[in-house]
Amino acid sequence: MTTDLTPPTKPTLGTCYYPEQWPKEQWQNDAHQMVELGLTWVRIAEFSWGVLEPTPGELCWQWLDEAIDVLGQAGLKVVLGTPSAAPPRWMLDKWPDMLATDNSGDARKFGSRRHYCFSHLGYREESVRMAELMAKRYGNNPYVQAWQVDNEYGCHDTTYSYSDAAKRGFRVWLQQYYANIDVLNEAWGNVFWSMQYNNFEQIELPNATVTEANPAHHMAYRRFSSDQVCDFNLAQVEAIKTFSKAPVSHNFMGRITDFDHAAMAQNLDFVTWDSYPLGFLEDRVNATSEHQRQYDRQGDPDFQAFHHDLYRGLGNGRWWVMEQQPGPVNWAPYNPAPLAGMVRLWSWEALAHGAEAVCYFRWRQAPFAQEQMHSGLLRPDSSLAPCYAEIRQLAQEIEHFPISKCKADIALVFDYTAQWAWEIQPHAANTSYFDLVFDCYKALRKQGLSVDVLPPSALETQKVCDQYKVLWAPGLMHMTKRLKDILIHAKGHVVWGPRSAAKTKNMAIPVPLPPNIDSLKVTVQSCESLRPDRPIALHQGGCVINYRELLDTNANVIEQTMDGEPVLVQQDKQLYLAAWLDQTGWQRVVKSVCGMAHVPTLEMPDGVRCRNTGTHLFWFNYDNKPHQVSEQLLEPGGVLIQ
Ligand code: GAL
Repeated sequence: MTTDLTPPTKPTLGTCYYPEQWPKEQWQNDAHQMVELGLTWVRIAEFSWGVLEPTPGELCWQWLDEAIDVLGQAGLKVVLGTPSAAPPRWMLDKWPDMLATDNSGDARKFGSRRHYCFSHLGYREESVRMAELMAKRYGNNPYVQAWQVDNEYGCHDTTYSYSDAAKRGFRVWLQQYYANIDVLNEAWGNVFWSMQYNNFEQIELPNATVTEANPAHHMAYRRFSSDQVCDFNLAQVEAIKTFSKAPVSHNFMGRITDFDHAAMAQNLDFVTWDSYPLGFLEDRVNATSEHQRQYDRQGDPDFQAFHHDLYRGLGNGRWWVMEQQPGPVNWAPYNPAPLAGMVRLWSWEALAHGAEAVCYFRWRQAPFAQEQMHSGLLRPDSSLAPCYAEIRQLAQEIEHFPISKCKADIALVFDYTAQWAWEIQPHAANTSYFDLVFDCYKALRKQGLSVDVLPPSALETQKVCDQYKVLWAPGLMHMTKRLKDILIHAKGHVVWGPRSAAKTKNMAIPVPLPPNIDSLKVTVQSCESLRPDRPIALHQGGCVINYRELLDTNANVIEQTMDGEPVLVQQDKQLYLAAWLDQTGWQRVVKSVCGMAHVPTLEMPDGVRCRNTGTHLFWFNYDNKPHQVSEQLLEPGGVLIQ
């Protein structure tokens, strides 16, 4: 472990609360009970537009004034949400064209939430107006100690919209990006299939084309859509900051990659994310049914940790879990209850990865509307749900347990643009950049390593890069010259590939052929994707799966297939991995590269994971059976701190 320790800070806990959903007489009791449980934070108001402004211009602050007072006077700190994720019905009468439009051109209807198009400038102004009104009223309120803008951008598939507003915005964006239509035609290769445009006004959004649209067109639309989300957010952040000094955040989701979270984090004082381990295992971890069965009440052992590390790496390092699953949720295909101990385990794990706070969604289960089957800390009748005792125990445990953060020895690069590039040209039905990076992460964790996940922008200085003993950079389809140079000159070992620098920023194949890394004699001659039932055996055991490249190289071969094709090659501290590996292959590669870099590894038992904070070693048992860890028996759902 590198030393580089931050001063220890005391972690805190909180909950999400909807005063507008409960009779006023209940607020006081709720607030006191939260404090008695050991909670510090309460997030409110992020869906409350309908009660704040029931008709256009009719502002009803009194209930919110009172709610903030009751919560604050009880001793809680309020995170105040701006309500733009839930535009009220009258907003549609005012702006009938504000709805997001799906891929087939249909407007998404009112009746749930997140139904707005990020490109609609009228709605953007409305959201800024409301953020500004709230910031003016509560910006100096002593109880309001933090802000949340909107709620879970991109959730429910809402980043992309094919509305007229998006089309207008896209044309303006293209004009700014390319300046001149000839430049765009050249950059996109529009001579192919006679796709040349005469002017920017002719360009459509890339949906509903006869066969696939030009990958360059798709990539431009992805970049544009991401910028729209970031701009929408920034407009509210600026409005809040004009009237308030309290830090501003947004709550990201698990495995939502449609907009560049690293770019957005530049404009936030801290980032948060919403962790639903059991929902995710069923819904978005690409797991076999056997794996789902083994972990159905615990969640995937790596998925939460990956997001903790990812979001810690995006901005200034300050992050929270804003919504922690407390019991069964309502939205996954199957919604079991967590194993006893898991709510405490998930929370400790977040804290061990550097979360400043963990807040639970939600205080009391709602007896009405869409989420009535979603548990809370209290049942609808206010009796205690099973997680309550675990949270009480945790609150007592953290009371005297300040936690430090330190740099890991291992960095893993995650790039949102690479995710879009793989989505645009996956080359096979079973390839996804997220899964590739996550497979690498899983292998690192199975070998007992703590990892910093970093966006390319975090590696813009050689100094940051040089702090790591091994940098893993799989699948970065487009790499800037600057990023390449920094990795070439890294002090530590660097593992590139597969698909490194395989495309220009306009999604064309570069010449000279990729990866074109000065310090490594490797050229990718060709690539192929593999059927799931046709893996290729590796010489030392395990397989190449999904995707591989055939190399022209005279670098030292560390791994090869049974038929002698190089898979991992090395020249000094630079290595190129030419294929996607199964876990047997990945773990051998992790062990051998860490061996070269003198980073000790320690194979974890099934479902056991650890995390080094620089002062403590935390062990977590996600498995459904006990494991012997460091001479102690760790029960399922158990946490050991050394
Ligand atoms: C989150 C969302 C919350 C609530 C929760 C239910 O994605 O932010 O508002 O819907 O899911 O699990």
